[in-house]
Amino acid sequence: MPETIITSDRASVDLDACYNPSTGVLDRRIFTDRLVYEEELERIFGRGWNFICHESQIPDTGNFFVSFIGEDEVIAVRDRAGKVNVLLNSCPHRGNTVCRAELGTTKSFMCSYHGWNFDLDGSLLAVPNEEAFYKGGLDKKDWGLESAANVESYKGFYFATLDPDAPPLIEYLGWVGKLSIDMMLVDGPIQFLDGIHKNRLKCNWKFAVDNLYDWYHVKVTHGTAFKVGLVTEEAMAPNDQMVILGEYGHGIGGPGLTLEQQAEFDRRQASGEGESQWYDIQAGHRTDAATREMLGPVGHRSFGHPNIFPNLWVTHTRQMCLRIPRGPFETEIWWFNYLPVGLPDAQSKQSIYSHNHVFGPAGFLEQDDGENWSHSTRGAKGTRSKNRPLNFSMGLGHDTVSTDPSGQSGIETVVNEHGQRWTYQCWKEWMQADSWQTLKENHSKPPQGSV
Ligand code: FES
Ligand SMILES: [Fe+2]
Repeated sequence: MPETIITSDRASVDLDACYNPSTGVLDRRIFTDRLVYEEELERIFGRGWNFICHESQIPDTGNFFVSFIGEDEVIAVRDRAGKVNVLLNSCPHRGNTVCRAELGTTKSFMCSYHGWNFDLDGSLLAVPNEEAFYKGGLDKKDWGLESAANVESYKGFYFATLDPDAPPLIEYLGWVGKLSIDMMLVDGPIQFLDGIHKNRLKCNWKFAVDNLYDWYHVKVTHGTAFKVGLVTEEAMAPNDQMVILGEYGHGIGGPGLTLEQQAEFDRRQASGEGESQWYDIQAGHRTDAATREMLGPVGHRSFGHPNIFPNLWVTHTRQMCLRIPRGPFETEIWWFNYLPVGLPDAQSKQSIYSHNHVFGPAGFLEQDDGENWSHSTRGAKGTRSKNRPLNFSMGLGHDTVSTDPSGQSGIETVVNEHGQRWTYQCWKEWMQADSWQTLKENHSKPPQGSV
């Protein structure tokens, strides 16, 4: 049994009992308890591989992009050797941030407080009046900016971890994390656009993550989008669903083509018949053999939303989103927008229009969602209401995981809460493990058979 680190003398939440995978009942205090939040920063964000930026954002020497690992602000910067470093944006003199810009190009980072100056690899280059004031007593090699423990890229997507014991990125992602990224590459290499859409919501970060698997809310929460004709109900809320569960909490949930629908799509493609179904646009990006091989026999039929644990959401609108924690009651939402390299102008404009109008601060969907997540968070604060557990039982015990001979697996069903249950089960395992070694030994393998 993994060690329970949040004990009754430290917090009001019994971590071992807070979630029951056999009933789908969850203690809602995990959304508001301050100590739970602090442990999440240490054990989840401080330990996992966190998405930092894409290579196209920092192609040249001195290019930098400021990102976050939990509440730690970090600078991703390409140094003179071409290597991407991820440095803590905190000066070791008094802790001031050494970089105030969100992105740009620089030769060094000079702290705006007393002028210590740091190189692109974080080493301390120079200190004002060093000889006169420190009199030889400052060993500059000990006072550079701290680096992430490891920085690695998968197909140009840079991730960093603060824990030197983390497994290699490729092992952490597993086939589900890799598939989540491969889904963004179905139209070839991509270029990220400058200008991250950032806004803050008064919600716990886990409500925002939980929602990406949630295809139950769409008809109600986004009812106005249907009413004014912005989207069709068939495209936005299909009942044919596929859930793919990956190690360490990764998952993909949402619409999927059944084998019959895939065969019908392929037949219509081959015969030159036009589009007739909601899935034609997405499936149309996956018609060539190389793309299907990259995504795999199950993966290429999924149009669901991936979450790379803990907080990276990928959508099919050429966008991805970080849900960055800002205390138990607040989350900063960062929308990254990208386009395939060489996309014709008219199509680029259409994609950018969609980036601005679907999600993000001006999007018609996320405004609806954010309201509900904020009120769910508020509902977990009340002296009485926080003691009433939440229900995540939809579909529990009614579905089966099918495994393809390739090793890919999926649950093909209707609207369900398998993705949310997997998230909270894995979250609990991360929170209970006192080290990567313990997590590796005790984490659940993705389920097989009945779920
Ligand atoms: S805080 Fe950075 S130089 Fe003093
Ligand atoms: Fe939504």
